[in-house]
Amino acid sequence: MSDREPKLVDTFGRAHRDMRVSLTDRCSLRCTYCMPADFADWIPSAELLTTDELMTVLEVAIEEGIDEVRLTGGEPLLRPDAVDVVRRINALPQPPRISLTTNGLRLAAQAGALRDAGLERVNVSLDTLDRERFKAMTHRDRLDDVLAGLAAARAAGLEPLKVNTVLMPGVNEDEAIPMLRRALEEGWRLRFIEQMPLDAGGLWSRTRMVTAEQILEEISREFDLTPVPVRGSAPAEEFFVDGGPETVGIIASVTRPFCGTCDRMRLTADGQLRNCLFARDELDLRVVLRDEGLSDAEVREGIRARLHRSVAAKLPGHGIDDPSFIQPDRPMSAIGG
Ligand SMILES: C[S@@+](CC[C@H](N)C(=O)[O-])C[C@H]1O[C@@H](n2cnc3c(N)ncnc32)[C@H](O)[C@@H]1O
Repeated sequence: MSDREPKLVDTFGRAHRDMRVSLTDRCSLRCTYCMPADFADWIPSAELLTTDELMTVLEVAIEEGIDEVRLTGGEPLLRPDAVDVVRRINALPQPPRISLTTNGLRLAAQAGALRDAGLERVNVSLDTLDRERFKAMTHRDRLDDVLAGLAAARAAGLEPLKVNTVLMPGVNEDEAIPMLRRALEEGWRLRFIEQMPLDAGGLWSRTRMVTAEQILEEISREFDLTPVPVRGSAPAEEFFVDGGPETVGIIASVTRPFCGTCDRMRLTADGQLRNCLFARDELDLRVVLRDEGLSDAEVREGIRARLHRSVAAKLPGHGIDDPSFIQPDRPMSAIGG
């Protein structure tokens, strides 16, 4: 965390330092809980922020106290200039820490270049170690490519190497222990993520998800877990495994929400600012960036004002458990997970 004064403080006193930036809504996998296999509602490319536009937004966001940028998507490494994006962020005044959430498919080819460009660490999504299941869960036969990507990330020194796993009932819920065993062998820092109501098909159900409690109960059958005391604004609850130093994390967004310490804002690939994954409102930064009637200074002031307006409007929590909760119109792939 930087020692710069946080300026993006909401009405509940939460200081925002972390920006999740979606580089594209396109993805090379079709994870069933994220995107239907035949999804085709892509953002038109003319609406995607250019890299210059993205740098303008990030320069202002950094001036307002953002010191951590996580690149995501869609699959961020599908953006042809992903390495250059990292290099340019790293060359900004007061560069933020840069991390990446990826399905890993392009990491084998790009991990070294990403590291050289200034990427600090990666989270790789991997829900199963079984090839047939991987095919069924993602609609692509690419498990070996993910594993090669993880090896390349390790070789490139992208540490800590985190692995994100979503468990689903009747699909891969029996893999909690095998995943943790493998993570311990490979030196991956495993985190289980509760399935959230962010699928394009609107199929999520509170009664058909694997909860943090169930996961902890399951892995406790083989491993001794003790809570890691300091959590801060991190979404994962961490546990030492068998006394540590290895840990396992649980991101229990649904059953144990951590909104009270949220320090995150989100920028979609088409330049919309969101104050929460589950927000139903967005603020349009692209329209400001492309307003030919504005000077460069006016564009920056427009972005700054919207950053503050977005933070000021942030609700205390995501409200999944509220009877009036309505799932966002965009799926996770289009918001940026
Ligand atoms: C949307 S993906 C984007 C980045 C990249 N393509 C990847 O696979 O990591 C980011 C993370 O969101 C998770 N995710 C997607 N939909 C989800 C949902 N409905 N509930 C929980 N996690 C979800 C994925 O498992 C992945 O770990």
